[in-house]
Amino acid sequence: MNFLDNSKWVKDTLAKAEKKIDYTFDKIETLFPYTTKNGKYESSVFELPIDDICWWTNGFYPGIMWLMYLRTKEVKYKNKAVECENALDAAFDDYYRLHHDVGFMWLTSAVADYRINKNEQSRKRGLRAADMLAARYNINAEYIRAWGFGDALKGHAIIDCMMNIPLLYWASEESGDPRYKYIAEHHADTTIKHHIRDDYSVNHIVIFDQDSGEILAKPAGQGYAEGSSWSRGQAWAIYGFVLSYIHTGNAKYLNAAKNVSHYFISNICDEYVAKCDFRSPEEPVIYDSTAGVIAACGLIEIAKAVNEYEKPLYLNAAVRILKATEERFCNWDTSEQSIVQMGTSAYTNGIHTPIIYGDYYFIEALMKLDGNEILFW
Ligand code: GLY
Repeated sequence: MNFLDNSKWVKDTLAKAEKKIDYTFDKIETLFPYTTKNGKYESSVFELPIDDICWWTNGFYPGIMWLMYLRTKEVKYKNKAVECENALDAAFDDYYRLHHDVGFMWLTSAVADYRINKNEQSRKRGLRAADMLAARYNINAEYIRAWGFGDALKGHAIIDCMMNIPLLYWASEESGDPRYKYIAEHHADTTIKHHIRDDYSVNHIVIFDQDSGEILAKPAGQGYAEGSSWSRGQAWAIYGFVLSYIHTGNAKYLNAAKNVSHYFISNICDEYVAKCDFRSPEEPVIYDSTAGVIAACGLIEIAKAVNEYEKPLYLNAAVRILKATEERFCNWDTSEQSIVQMGTSAYTNGIHTPIIYGDYYFIEALMKLDGNEILFW
């Protein structure tokens, strides 16, 4: 298998993304865009209040700003990222509503700032968020508890958390304290054991008995039904496990990433776009563009980790996904503020919308393909 020649396409597509982000820079009216309505970004999230400072996606716009800063060195992007990061401090005061997604919120904002600028205040923010994540660890059952404090969510662990634990690896690397990494590794091991199925599809949610660690249920979560196959969860697993490999060097995490990626690739290999759930009825057709771009980021990292004869499998799949995403789902018109359309927050919502992390991971993947070592995670 040979590598697909993609360099011109990558450069052209990145140039289009940069042009659009430059155009929308002073037109987007919120620091935390989530989805667009009538082409205009809003931070409102379904039934949640507008400008919900604790919403899990609030790190992605500062993340896009940091990506653009790295690419262009234009200080306006840095300033906007810092403005978002400062505003996000208000979330630390809302203790009850922050949860396992502190990694999503602070890795691409404060930790990115620290990695790029060695800003001490950003380091403290990242470590504070890591403390909150580590505190959610259940020692008996060896998982990081998902979501809020309510009784209804007792014992929940979710596949998405694989993308939050890089905050713990970073905190150990940064502080020299190994406890964060221990927690991350134990959570990753539990995820291999209970979330990954025999066919390498993944469960979104596993509910444990909090005291004994006994498995109580594996409900549908954001997928179609119990036992189905939520594609964005599969993508979180691909990227999350290869990140655990990058931070630990432990081959079991690379193997897990490869296995879950083979399942993903075999489910998209006709068109290279992901349905929201790989095990759902043919009609209605519900896509999730965000699953593809997240998976592409993970596939590119897997390609870097495997030997030369294996690389094309992962890299070519990533390129095909990104090209299909551009052809089918990207809107380059400036009347629409987002780039990647046709995301789906959850199967049961059944509504195709742009979602900010679709744009984030699309750009991150393209920048990786363009030779940048982007690893905010
Ligand atoms: N992490 C939440 C989601 O993927 O919708």
